Amino acid sequence: MNLLSGHARLAGVFGHPITHSRSPRLHGFWLQRYGIDGAYIPLGVAPSGFAAAVRALVDLGFRGANVTIPHKLAAFEICDAVAPFARRAGAVNTLIFRDGRIEGSNTDGFGFLESIREAAPGWRADAGPAVLLGAGGAARAIAAALLDAGAPRVTLVNRTAAKAEALARDLGGPIHVADRPSLEDAALLVNTTSLGMQGQPGLEVDLAPLPASAVVADIVYVPLETRLLAAARARGLVAVDGLGMLLHQARPGFEAWFGVAPQVDQALRDVVAADIPKRDGA
Ligand SMILES: NC(=O)c1ccc[n+]([C@@H]2O[C@H](COP(=O)([O-])OP(=O)(O)OC[C@H]3O[C@@H](n4cnc5c(N)ncnc54)[C@H](OP(=O)(O)O)[C@@H]3O)[C@@H](O)[C@H]2O)c1
Repeated sequence: MNLLSGHARLAGVFGHPITHSRSPRLHGFWLQRYGIDGAYIPLGVAPSGFAAAVRALVDLGFRGANVTIPHKLAAFEICDAVAPFARRAGAVNTLIFRDGRIEGSNTDGFGFLESIREAAPGWRADAGPAVLLGAGGAARAIAAALLDAGAPRVTLVNRTAAKAEALARDLGGPIHVADRPSLEDAALLVNTTSLGMQGQPGLEVDLAPLPASAVVADIVYVPLETRLLAAARARGLVAVDGLGMLLHQARPGFEAWFGVAPQVDQALRDVVAADIPKRDGA
């Protein structure tokens, strides 16, 4: 059954709550820019209704959906096929409906790497060790992406060491856990914790030991310029904000659902960042 066949292309984002999601604005901008007859809809659905809601979208002829908190694990269960990277990342954030089947993938690692490449065009994952602060869901996708891209070493530093150890064991390869960041030879430092986010405690890291060529990334994007990024810029280092990851992770889904490979540029950034404070308290 495909109740909407022949009509506009439809996709959306599942979350609970969903009002904070910037994905509708992001995809809406691209739909307008590329003149596509389609819509991208916020889908606020509680966990108990998630599976039925996904099935309903398949029946309605939707092309697919993004999945955000708290559905990223439940999305696994409902997929007929899950891409290998999503398995490694332990979460599905993109659903593609094809011929009544549900395919799941995870684009967070791709989005992260693309955001670094955009901000630091000469950067390569295999150029040197990476230090990740945090060991949650985002850290998992980023660590997996860095290892897959050839990072010679990934070090996890997390408040709860046991979680970092479990993550390192799960991913395998040149990844280990430390109780403090050792930055002397790091090519990349990434904050994947929620520290520095508006309303959360700040993140205190002394960036002085980092090599002058190091890149510093923060995946927090509210505010856009966290204290970590401001300190990195003050030291003359390349600083990469979390908005880039959010924008780039959306590209594969949009292309699959709407048939156009979308561009990330300043106009998109301006639209999506319109209501995001630039600095804490700004
Ligand atoms: N830019 C993007 O596209 C993007 C994508 C995904 C996530 N994010 C952002 O990334 C952040 C993490 O997301 P997530 O999904 O990975 O969350 P998560 O799975 O809940 O992980 C949270 C991480 O932050 C650490 N943490 C939280 N509070 C802390 C504190 N007071 N002191 C020290 N460490 C603390 C946790 O440490 P413990 O293990 O010790 O609890 C854990 O490592 C959020 O701010 C989220 O908005 C951004």
